[in-house]
Amino acid sequence: MTLLKVLEYPEPILKQVSKEVVQFDSSLEIFLSDFIETLNSHKYCVGLAAPQVGNLQRIIAIDISRARKPHPNNGPLILINPKILESSNFKNVREGCLSIPDFTANVKRAMNIVVAYQNVQGEAKTLATKDFEAHAIQHEMDHLDGILFLDKISNPASELFRRVKY
Ligand code: CO
Repeated sequence: MTLLKVLEYPEPILKQVSKEVVQFDSSLEIFLSDFIETLNSHKYCVGLAAPQVGNLQRIIAIDISRARKPHPNNGPLILINPKILESSNFKNVREGCLSIPDFTANVKRAMNIVVAYQNVQGEAKTLATKDFEAHAIQHEMDHLDGILFLDKISNPASELFRRVKY
């Protein structure tokens, strides 16, 4: 297994739109094992999107159980070709990103979502989730469309915050 380099803003790859995964083969499995190892190598990291490691495929990994504070969660998840089917209960919530290490921001996110995706075998699944897990999924899905939280804030003076190092 190999740790993958996490690209940081303003790397142009982060602004590209990722492609649907069509081949569920051994090269996908090898990438996923490196991708998960990379996520797990970052303390408190709860999600990663494939374009953040330079792979422009619609793949995200989520693991809210790794958060600094406990949240209800479904454990480690890999969502391939995810699509939001339903979203409701929008709130402004604080978020960070491994690709923007020095800042956090307040972003409007749905606190309840239903997401369709394919698992690592290519089987169609749906997941209904809420709160921090729903929030993290939306953040990672934005990466698949080349969207960073910097693109979602209108007033940096009140919505962008220097990250407190811990
Ligand atoms: Co991010």
